[in-house]
Amino acid sequence: MSENQIITKLTMRRPDDWHVHLRDGEMLVAVGPMTARQFGRAIVMPNLRPPVTTAADAVAYQARIQKAVPSDLNFTPLMTLYLTDKTDPDDLERGFKAGQIVAAKLYPAGATTNSDHGVTHITKISNVLERMESLGMPLLVHGEVTDQNIDIFDREHVFIEQVMKPTLQNFPALKVVFEHITTSAAVNFVRSQGPRVGATITVHHLQINRSDIFKGGIHPHLYCLPIAKREEHRLALREAATSGEAQFFLGTDTAPHGVDAKETACGCAGIFSAPTALELYAQVFDEEKALDKFEAFASLNGPKFYGLPINDDTVTLVREDWTAPATTEVGAGQAVKNYRGGETLNWRLQDL
Ligand code: DOR
Ligand code: ZN
Repeated sequence: MSENQIITKLTMRRPDDWHVHLRDGEMLVAVGPMTARQFGRAIVMPNLRPPVTTAADAVAYQARIQKAVPSDLNFTPLMTLYLTDKTDPDDLERGFKAGQIVAAKLYPAGATTNSDHGVTHITKISNVLERMESLGMPLLVHGEVTDQNIDIFDREHVFIEQVMKPTLQNFPALKVVFEHITTSAAVNFVRSQGPRVGATITVHHLQINRSDIFKGGIHPHLYCLPIAKREEHRLALREAATSGEAQFFLGTDTAPHGVDAKETACGCAGIFSAPTALELYAQVFDEEKALDKFEAFASLNGPKFYGLPINDDTVTLVREDWTAPATTEVGAGQAVKNYRGGETLNWRLQDL
């Protein structure tokens, strides 16, 4: 194909979302099918209230997800355990070996939404990390320090020095996913570690910088954790995602909260990108003239890191202007604002 020829249709292996919040109850019923329509599998975050802390909890939650999603979509939710100071390594090992859980999530206590039961200090889970290392079970990390005296825009960078580096040194074979990276420091760090460290990159961190949160007034629906950083960091993330390098893969961190919980004096962190996630990523790769790298990022690198097969079926995106729906209704009377909802998108996913 000549360089100037415009690509109007893109067919690729079905992608997976390596970081989603599907919630529970009515919210799960509303948002689950949106992720399942686009992705073959998803790594489901365990920060429910109460959190998913045992393999039995994960099995029960997986059944609720499967019930909420139409079976003809062939969607597989991959379950994770929420680590606490009291996680039982034997339960974790049994769940992993039985295929009930594929990874475990480290939320430093107090770092983000529903993280109160998280790990108070990394040394409290040394026995669990040792077990995960020997099992080859990935540790998924919310990489922000919780010290409120550290500037919110520095918490990821400081976490690399204070927690990530020593942990990777102490557990030299532990597989780690640095979730939703937001800084050039994280990009460089991941690259320096080689294939046992991967990173997910959200679509919103590829599209917004910290000024966007305050453009013409405060935009609570653009508030998430880790918070968006300076423009130079957004550009570093775009370069990493579109490089095609195996360590970087798609993870939306779609995190729905009702409008009431966002538009209030103390609003929750979380951006709800599930409805149009794939289309928005396609737009970013298109803008970067890197559509030829999109399949690696969305559909190949993640399975390779997790040691899973690539999905057999495909998805097709077409170049087409359309208006994304503004909101998602949740049960009776509750709504969630869709990220980029109401805006014109340039790519559209063809349904089967
Ligand atoms: O913005 C976020 N929302 N970041 C997280 O780490 C958690 C998530 C949520 O669960 O709402
Ligand atoms: Zn998350």
